Amino acid sequence: MNKNLYALITGASEGFGRALAIECARRKMNLILVALPETNLHPLADFIKFHHSVDVISIEKDLCKDESCIELFDEVNSSGLQVNMLFNNAGIGSTGLFEEGSISLFENQIKLNVLATTLITRLFLQMLKQNSPSYILNVGSLASYFSLPRKQVYGATKSFIYYFSKSLRKELKKDNVSVSVLCPGGMFTNKEVKLTIEANYFSRVSSMDPEEVVPAAIDGLLRKKAVIIPGMLNKCFLFMDAILPAFIKTALLNNTMKKINARGSLAFLPKRLTVSPVPQSTPKFIPSINS
Ligand SMILES: NC(=O)c1ccc[n+]([C@@H]2O[C@H](COP(=O)([O-])OP(=O)(O)OC[C@H]3O[C@@H](n4cnc5c(N)ncnc54)[C@H](OP(=O)(O)O)[C@@H]3O)[C@@H](O)[C@H]2O)c1
Repeated sequence: MNKNLYALITGASEGFGRALAIECARRKMNLILVALPETNLHPLADFIKFHHSVDVISIEKDLCKDESCIELFDEVNSSGLQVNMLFNNAGIGSTGLFEEGSISLFENQIKLNVLATTLITRLFLQMLKQNSPSYILNVGSLASYFSLPRKQVYGATKSFIYYFSKSLRKELKKDNVSVSVLCPGGMFTNKEVKLTIEANYFSRVSSMDPEEVVPAAIDGLLRKKAVIIPGMLNKCFLFMDAILPAFIKTALLNNTMKKINARGSLAFLPKRLTVSPVPQSTPKFIPSINS
């Protein structure tokens, strides 16, 4: 363990971020964990310190707010902590018709998935360069590759992450800052995601536990891979997408979407929203579904 260097993980209190935090600690990395206020962050930090003997700092911020991203950097910088690994993981997922999604959900999704990732990367860039070799892992999705109905805004935010990461990687190569993008398929991270995954066969068989994805993600990052796609089936999906004729893909997609639509009637609201959602007469939009 390098006593002076830290891995910073956003969205670390739950799901994939939590699994990332535990695996990084197992590999003896000091941690700065970031999540929304009043979450499981502090108990998780205590658990990790106790079991893995690394330094863990927890910082509560709503990263949908620009000023919170700036405060996060200022707090880290003024404490003299040095970051050489940045995991931009926090993200809001959703599945549902565009016309049924609330404005506040889309706003928060774009702010967290796109803006926070961009701002935090920009704010920490100088520090990452100074501490090189450094690593940035941006969490995208398999959805980065496809134009999926019912995942219009989410999929577009993840396509942003994909191209942003690949472009930045080229720029930062000379500075010894490696940028990777992780594109997982479904992960069984929370109950909303599990519900949607269960709705169709392909998701069910290809989805993975976050604990299975994490080693592939960190190994890929340390090996400086540009794009990390965990799981054999997810790789097969991309291969099939490249070779199958368009009419077969459309038929498969329509069939899958029909099943998700049927589940869509079991509507529920997101676990947490930082802005109240616009009331809807038929709340069929299902936030927190990521893949
Ligand atoms: N699950 C999947 O199937 C899947 C598939 C592909 C990609 N992904 C991507 O993987 C990443 C993690 O997803 P997940 O399924 O692990 O999500 P999750 O279980 O909902 O956890 C999200 C994490 O982000 C935090 N967070 C949410 N809003 C925040 C905000 N405004 N400011 C700061 N932190 C915030 C949450 O904190 P709280 O504890 O306060 O909610 C939580 O720690 C996301 O980028 C997602 O798009 C997920």
